[in-house]
Amino acid sequence: MSTQMIRPEKIYFEVTNHCNFNCDFCPSHESGRPRQHMDFALFEKGIDDIAREHITGHVGFHVLGEPLIYPRLIDAIRYSHSRGLDTSINTNGSLLTSEAGSQLIDAGLDHLNISLQTLGERDHECRGTALPYARYYDRVMGALRDIRSSGSEMEIVLCYMNTSTRRFFDIDKPMRVSWQADRARAALLFLVVDACAAAGQRVPREDVALAVQRLDLLRPKFVRIDPHTAVFVQPMMDWGNAFTRRRVFPAHAGYCGYCLSNLGILSNGEVTICCGDYDGATSLGNLRDRSLGEILSSDRAHAIADGMRRMRLVDPYCQRCFGSPNPIKAAVKGLGSIYFFKVLKFQPSGVREVPLLAATPEQSSSGPGALARLARSVRTRLNAAPTLERPAARSEIAGPASA
Ligand SMILES: C[S@@+](CC[C@H](N)C(=O)[O-])C[C@H]1O[C@@H](n2cnc3c(N)ncnc32)[C@H](O)[C@@H]1O
Ligand code: SF4
Ligand code: SF4
Repeated sequence: MSTQMIRPEKIYFEVTNHCNFNCDFCPSHESGRPRQHMDFALFEKGIDDIAREHITGHVGFHVLGEPLIYPRLIDAIRYSHSRGLDTSINTNGSLLTSEAGSQLIDAGLDHLNISLQTLGERDHECRGTALPYARYYDRVMGALRDIRSSGSEMEIVLCYMNTSTRRFFDIDKPMRVSWQADRARAALLFLVVDACAAAGQRVPREDVALAVQRLDLLRPKFVRIDPHTAVFVQPMMDWGNAFTRRRVFPAHAGYCGYCLSNLGILSNGEVTICCGDYDGATSLGNLRDRSLGEILSSDRAHAIADGMRRMRLVDPYCQRCFGSPNPIKAAVKGLGSIYFFKVLKFQPSGVREVPLLAATPEQSSSGPGALARLARSVRTRLNAAPTLERPAARSEIAGPASA
């Protein structure tokens, strides 16, 4: 066993793999693992291991599953804080009542990521829930409004998924999500306008339209609304070929910035090399049997990390993750990952942040006439975009910004 320990940037404890949604774009329904809550004593052991050996400073509470279903979530947040760790939750937001929001504030949660992801009645069908879209949307916006008006400095991020990227992946299973990029942009406009209003920011709708129009929706980015609120725009991914039944040809050369930097600990205790391995195929060992420090010092962990440094995908699961049913595409994807992570230097923790109303250099240098032209073109495009169903009770949360 190597003596040096690998230290991930962030560790995701899947506190439960139960979920009250069944999203088409999530591999929850592909997972063969029994549904279970993580034993709280096991969670505490993992946190103690982290704190004792300073393994990471940041913990999350999912891989699959809905963290707000975990009966001891508040205890888990408090316990992590007591050991000096920064905490973040990703939640679908459906259970974010005002009481739940207050509990998260009291527990001192640092980051709340709400996976709104799809907008409009039609795309909401893909979430696999009986909760009507309007009630869901209002609940999420209500939580944002309540937490912001409480004065809490919790970072709140509303996550929105550009599902039009589905076309780049080998996905055979039917997904009830939109393919159209124009539709994604129009939907995003509604979301940002409503988020500004719920966060108490007065921003004219036309300014938001301009800002949204110039966003590159193919790259993940945070659109900053205020110092503690953002909208995260992310492309839909395929969870490493989780949605194809075809034979996948492996990629051998490649690089992945998530490997051993965003570790997963599944609800059954299996420690995986990344939070994208939803069924434990890459397990390095079980937290029940060994300390996290031992697991992260193991020869296997080092062999995988060394392989990444040489741009070789050592684990067969990584080879499949960057693979494809088309062998040429598999090789291109592997090489593309090197370009993405090594040449463009993408880092999971370094996603770009754009202030909502920052003008691009071209726009600021071309004067107000150009801005007016752009505004007109945005209006024309938005009017031409397919109509989105608005949530019925939206007016309840709409403030001056969306008037
Ligand atoms: C698997 S979920 C678990 C946490 C929680 N249930 C939720 O939905 O936020 C973790 C995150 O992955 C996102 N996600 C799921 N499938 C995705 C996909 N195909 N592409 C990109 N993100 C995805 C979810 O929207 C969520 O933000
Ligand atoms: S994305 Fe989250 S909410 Fe949707 S099925 Fe997966 S775990 Fe559940
Ligand atoms: S390539 Fe490997 S480490 Fe990277 S996301 Fe895929 S399975 Fe995880």
